[in-house]
Amino acid sequence: MSKLNKKYIDVANLHIDSLKTGFLPSLGVRFLALLYRCIDEADFATLIVKYRDDQLIGFVSATNGTSSLYKAMIYYPLELFLTLIPVAIDLKKIKKILNIFNHMSGAERAGYPSAELLTMCVHKDFRRQGVAENLYLGLVRYCQSKSISEFVIIVGQSLDANKFYKNQGAKVSGELQVHNGINSNVFIHKV
Ligand SMILES: CC(C)(COP(=O)(O)OP(=O)(O)OC[C@H]1O[C@@H](n2cnc3c(N)ncnc32)[C@H](O)[C@@H]1OP(=O)(O)O)[C@@H](O)C(=O)NCCC(=O)NCCS
Repeated sequence: MSKLNKKYIDVANLHIDSLKTGFLPSLGVRFLALLYRCIDEADFATLIVKYRDDQLIGFVSATNGTSSLYKAMIYYPLELFLTLIPVAIDLKKIKKILNIFNHMSGAERAGYPSAELLTMCVHKDFRRQGVAENLYLGLVRYCQSKSISEFVIIVGQSLDANKFYKNQGAKVSGELQVHNGINSNVFIHKV
């Protein structure tokens, strides 16, 4: 496995381990690794990782929202096809993927800033040591370098991460449902 691919597999695995009940993990490690590769390569998105020795201990991903990540994935048609074969026969999953598309281009989402912190995860053995705070600071610096004045964070209301984002100075400015029945807080962080 090349060093580059290892990074995306590491990020995908940490995402799956950290957000087990989320929908994206159910699409599998290969789909997520491809998604994170696209995030890392796109000029409208960023992936910040933190390794200790050879172990990934945390990452944060974000987009400035000027283009679609799912469109970026289509530039890897073979990989996309292969990663989606296992879910292609699952109608419920296809419906959820369509829900995500609708949400991202929907009227509710359009009322908020386009830049978005997509996912932040810290390995469970390294939590409460300031790793996420450090990654968040890296993201704020990235936004400053790209003249992004604010970004949103959409967080399931049941997650402890709500406290983390409040502590970083983000403010709850609404709520929405990405999937039926699951409420999320919409935070806005002014850079
Ligand atoms: C949320 C998460 C990224 C925080 O990572 P972390 O490295 O442990 O966070 P930090 O150590 O930088 O925390 C900084 C401060 O945020 C607050 N905080 C962080 N985690 C918290 C928790 N679980 N409960 C309450 N407050 C928390 C605390 O005030 C903390 O400071 P303290 O430890 O001195 O009290 C991590 O718990 C995680 O990966 N969770 C699972 C994935 C997830 O829910 N991601 C967010 C959705 S995208």
